[in-house]
Order: sequence, then structure tokens, then C-alpha cells
Amino acid sequence: MSGKAFVYSVIVSVSASILTYKIIKSLNGAAKDVPRKRENVADLIGNTPMVRIKSLSEATGCEIYAKLELANPGGSAKDRVALSVIRHFEEIGELVPGRGDVLFEGTSGSTGISFAMLCNSLGYTAHICLPDDTSLEKLQLLDSYGAEIEKVKPASIVDPNQYVNAARKGALALRNDKSTQANGVFADQFENDNNWRVHYNTTGPEIWEQMDHNIDYFITGSGTGGTIAGCSKFLKSVSRKVKIFLADPQGSGMFNRVKYGVMYDTVEKEGTRRRHQVDTIIEGVGLNRITHNFLQGEHCVDDAIRVTDEQAVRMARFLSSNDGLFVGSSSSINAVAAVKVAKNAAPGSRIVIIACDSGSRHLSKFWKEALKVDKNLTLEDVLNV
Ligand SMILES: Cc1ncc(COP(=O)(O)O)c(C=O)c1O
Repeated sequence: MSGKAFVYSVIVSVSASILTYKIIKSLNGAAKDVPRKRENVADLIGNTPMVRIKSLSEATGCEIYAKLELANPGGSAKDRVALSVIRHFEEIGELVPGRGDVLFEGTSGSTGISFAMLCNSLGYTAHICLPDDTSLEKLQLLDSYGAEIEKVKPASIVDPNQYVNAARKGALALRNDKSTQANGVFADQFENDNNWRVHYNTTGPEIWEQMDHNIDYFITGSGTGGTIAGCSKFLKSVSRKVKIFLADPQGSGMFNRVKYGVMYDTVEKEGTRRRHQVDTIIEGVGLNRITHNFLQGEHCVDDAIRVTDEQAVRMARFLSSNDGLFVGSSSSINAVAAVKVAKNAAPGSRIVIIACDSGSRHLSKFWKEALKVDKNLTLEDVLNV
């Protein structure tokens, strides 16, 4: 071998060794980050990822991130709440595995799915009362988990047949039934303190760590109010600068409650309301009454942003086309609100939204509308409707 060829072969073999070393090192690093194996789906709840939304960040000059609560095993942030409620009932002896105990809940979907999943895993039956116009996917999911499903007409909370009241009634009936050992409990996510507390103890701290202790805005909607109350209380306790914005769909009274202290929406006017609960295509957030959970964090909410159905539908399409983020309706209103906040924020501001659930939960309603939108739409097309 000539001298030149020898030097060349040494360089090639050293480079190959360095490359192999780098690959092995990076794989070892990746392996260290792999979540450990778990015993139960309940152990998979929480520690959800945070991802930068590149399209919105680049368009606004702010850093906009989504906390992917849709990555929980039951597909939404409600897994945290359901687990915490069940553990509480177990601690006080109201739920005992294998006794035939039934957990009743009134929910428009996500919470029911989380309870159905956890009840199967932990030894209970889930009985879910929901409005009969709940999206087909959510019904099919509940059915697939084998939950008992009770559909009721959408009605005001003062109606005894409203879905929350129906669940309360069901639990009481089983509790008073002397012919069985089985107990009935009412989860009561709207009023239950375990709801906001689990977000205070887990979701909030996770966001704070993932954002390296540096957040300017936290934005999310309010259904029960548990997420916004728990996360806001925690974030305000650790940061003096963070501002909390409520993202509210059309038809909901929460926007006016935050802005002006009055729970009112124009659809409240006699004869103008089309749907009993909240007149919007958005599921899971928006309400025309104050819940115990929202009240726990209301003092932390600085401002509110109203989002129309059309803006939410278009934003869902935009995020899917530009970022590969396939989200549901409540996540989409949070993203619209984030852009509206970013337009008035200092450049580089760090904004976190909750991505509550996936678009696959909304294919038959919300995403049916989103598919009618041109996939090449611009951010201006999203906002200017
Ligand atoms: C899809 C979805 N997003 C957001 C929320 C709102 O969360 P919270 O009840 O904590 O206000 C819910 C509540 O049910 C939901 O189902």
C-alpha cells in the first residue's frame, strides 16, 4: 500500500469509528429518556409532552407552545381528573374494586371516556349520562369500553333530566338500593375539588418545568373550570409575570364574566338560542353558569378572548396542514386565542396553550366542517371571519 493510500485508509477508519461512537452515544441518550414500563394504564397518566407550534410562532414572533394533554392514555386531560376522583373515593371507602360499584358521571364526552377506561382497569363500572347530540366518535368510544350509556336531551342545569342531574340521581338510586352490596358514587366533576387540585399538583408544575420556568401567557378554555383554575393558581404561585387568558367559544357567558363580571351572552335573549347548553359547535368548553371549580381560580384569570366557531374550524385545518397537529375543537379555540394574544404581546413572548384532545374525537361534527376549508388557507384567513 502506498503512503498516501495508507493515510487515506486511516482517515476513513477513524471517521467511521467517530460516526459509530456518535450514533451509539445518541442512541444511549435516547434510551435513557424512554419511559419505564408500568403496571396499569392509570400509571401512564400525566407527564404529557410540550411542543412548539412552529407555524404560529413564526407568524407572530412569539413562542407558542402546546401542552399535549391529548397524549394521555384516555386521550385527554380528563384522565388526570378521573384518576384523582377515583383514588379519593377509594381512600374514603366509597369505591371498592370487585364489589360491583358503579361510578356515575354527567359529561359531554371526554371525562366519560377517561372514567370508562379507568373503571375497567381498576375494577368498577362507569355509567355515563350525556347529551344526545354528543359526537358519534365519543359515543362509539364509550360503547367500545363497555360503559353504561344514558343519553338525555340537552337541557338547562335547572332541569332534573339534565345530564349532570341524571347522573346524580342514578348514583343516589344505587346507593339506596338495599338489594345489592354495590355502591353508587357521583363523580361530579364540575363541583369536585379533586378536579382543580390535580391540575394544581400535576399539570401546572409540568408546564412550569417544560417551559424552563419562563412563561408569559397561559391560555385555555373552561368547561368545568378545573384546568384553568388549577394551572393558573399554580403558575401564579411561581411566577409574578404570567398572565392568564380564558379562551371562550361563541354562545358562552364566561367571556363576559371574566371581562365585566356578568355571566351573559346575547344568545340568552328570549327566542334566540338554538341549543340549550351553549350555542356553539365547540365541545367541552363554554358554559352559562359558574362552577365551583372555575371559582377556585377565577381571581387568577386576567382576561378573556372570544373565538367564533368559524375561526376555530379554520384554525384546526391550519394547524393540521402546517404543523401536522390534528386537534379537536377546544384546542383549536385555544390556538386562535393564542394568536390574538400574540398580536398584542412583546416579541418573543412565551405562550402556552392546552391541546385538550385529538381531532379524531371530532371527525363527524367539527372536523366535517374543517374539511370544507381550503387546506392552503393563511393565518389571516383564519382570523378574518
Ligand atoms: C375536549 C375538552 N377540552 C377542554 C375541556 C375543559 O376542561 P375543564 O373541564 O378542565 O375546564 C373539556 C372538559 O370536559 C373537554 O372535554
